Amino acid sequence: MADLDDIRDGDNFGLNTPADTSSFYLKGMNSTDWGIKNRMARIFNRKSGNTVMLAFDHGFLMGPTSGLERIDLNIAPLAEYADCLMGTRGMIRSSIPAENTKPVCLRTDTGTTILTEMNHNVLISEEEAISMNAAAMAAMISVGDAATEASTIANFSKLVDLGNKYSIPVMGVTAVGKDMARDSRYFGLAARVCAENGASIVKTYYTEGFENVVAACPVPVVIAGGKKLPELEALELAYNAIDCGASGVDMGRNVFQSDCPLGMIKAVAGVVHEGLKPAEALEIYKSEKG
Ligand code: 5RP
Repeated sequence: MADLDDIRDGDNFGLNTPADTSSFYLKGMNSTDWGIKNRMARIFNRKSGNTVMLAFDHGFLMGPTSGLERIDLNIAPLAEYADCLMGTRGMIRSSIPAENTKPVCLRTDTGTTILTEMNHNVLISEEEAISMNAAAMAAMISVGDAATEASTIANFSKLVDLGNKYSIPVMGVTAVGKDMARDSRYFGLAARVCAENGASIVKTYYTEGFENVVAACPVPVVIAGGKKLPELEALELAYNAIDCGASGVDMGRNVFQSDCPLGMIKAVAGVVHEGLKPAEALEIYKSEKG
């Protein structure tokens, strides 16, 4: 039986303070469940509204690509400077210490490598995502690829069903179709298809006219960094994306293939969270590099 001694009636009802009816700080999220909002709030900084996700999922397609030979040595030390870690279950379990408290965006599609026809992927189980305490799940859609468009969108749609069941946001990753122009028309279409299918976050590539891609996507958009660029150019890419309305980056190679990954992730964070100009952020990279 509950302890009935000394039961005190409440007398502090804050009668002069109306209940908060303000809306959630990320676009397109107002009608989502508390659990999705809570996970999104772990990924996206409350003050800037943006995120620096560190992507190191490349190995499931590419194997031990440059900069990812040893996730324990190359990626784990960067975790504290990222807002979210994006990787596969195998690398996170084996190489990221469980003491890590940064949210994980778990790559949940798998099945092919760069050695064969790609993107004939399947999903790992939602139980895996739950057991890994995932803050988000990511899967790719191959818009414009006749062989895999339908199956990857079906995968994605199923993942959103599962994500909604357990209130885990799903990030749509827009692959670049082999024969598609890398322009805002294509990425705008691919991003919109992710959102139409229930994505809470869309990851795509920066391109000319990116403001239209972001405007037509009703949920937060983050950009991939793409192939390794000189550091200043990578910072310009991040700056331009934020300037066009992106909500952050999910960057991989331009961080872990830099000659100073720590300086680079700090510099990217300066652009994404503090609005530093690329040249200002470059100074952070340079001073870390020494
Ligand atoms: C590919 C991915 C990668 O994580 C993505 O390409 C981000 O990495 P990078 O900044 O190196 O492009 O999702 O499917």
